[in-house]
Amino acid sequence: MDRNALSRLDTATEQIRRRLRPLCRLKSGEVWEDESGRHVVACGDAADTVFIKSLFRGRSASLAVHDPPYNLVMFTRRSVSEFIEWCRRWVDNTHDILADDASLYVWLGADQKNHFQPLPQFMAMMAETEFASRSYITMRNQRGYGTQKNWMAVRQELLYYTKGSPAFQVQYTDIPKILRGYYKDVRGVRTENCERSHSAKIRPGNVWVDIQQVFYRMHENVNGCYGQKPLQAIERIVRASSRQNDTVADFFAHSGTTLLACEKTDRRCITVDIDPVFAEVTIRRLERYRETGETGWQAENMFARELAASATVSDSAVPP
Ligand SMILES: C[S@@+](CC[C@H](N)C(=O)[O-])C[C@H]1O[C@@H](n2cnc3c(N)ncnc32)[C@H](O)[C@@H]1O
Repeated sequence: MDRNALSRLDTATEQIRRRLRPLCRLKSGEVWEDESGRHVVACGDAADTVFIKSLFRGRSASLAVHDPPYNLVMFTRRSVSEFIEWCRRWVDNTHDILADDASLYVWLGADQKNHFQPLPQFMAMMAETEFASRSYITMRNQRGYGTQKNWMAVRQELLYYTKGSPAFQVQYTDIPKILRGYYKDVRGVRTENCERSHSAKIRPGNVWVDIQQVFYRMHENVNGCYGQKPLQAIERIVRASSRQNDTVADFFAHSGTTLLACEKTDRRCITVDIDPVFAEVTIRRLERYRETGETGWQAENMFARELAASATVSDSAVPP
């Protein structure tokens, strides 16, 4: 295995980015369509209405899964009100490209050192849109931080909204039911009341405790991507809220998890990233999956071959 790990691509030095730029197929405003015609990757701004409209050109999506940047890097550049105004623009763009009956999922963080922003502000902004709130899901991370002086921070927030009345397909975890239904005696026979129990496994409900967060030892790990969501989580969303051959939108592609979930579940994906490097990573992840069946690179470097062929790798050997 090639251990030539990449540092975080978003904060990579200008030297690394200079070397990666020529390896990226897309420049800002450009679009890549895969040869089977199933998926589209674009490099552009989610908040740019003209760009998003032209990208979808009459196509509509039945599902959008968005994972905007909401971490501290973002807050050093924008106040929370600026951030929310920016969110309002891509939320409006999402409304425009969704079908009449469609679902929108948004991953968001809550800064516990700062009145949990931007989660409450985002929720309040969404209340002013035409989306209806449907569920507030928490996914539990296996690893946490800040365990000595506070409750360990292990949650990731996922908001579920709808436009119109989209279908919803019930999902199950792999966790067997511990508690069974209640029992009753009918004409001397003791039976379990399973009327509502269609599976021996539990449903995830709105607290997901069964999904491993991505870390560098996992096959699906995409080196250099700081905000990668677990494939299993996105697949769960895709299976619950879209049908085969539906179009799914993701305006914040990054490592291309939504596109890969769509490939695995026979959906079409139109995905966008403002950064040409992440647009390229997304395309390469699909190509790698099709060639090898691998969902990521684990600790390998997806640009290793080209980087090795060019100059030294002095500043690229920082493990995640
Ligand atoms: C948290 S990551 C998304 C992670 C993704 N769900 C995954 O599993 O890999 C956010 C991404 O949004 C991109 N981004 C930031 N601002 C953007 C904008 N205005 N338009 C489109 N993409 C943007 C960043 O480059 C980054 O790759």
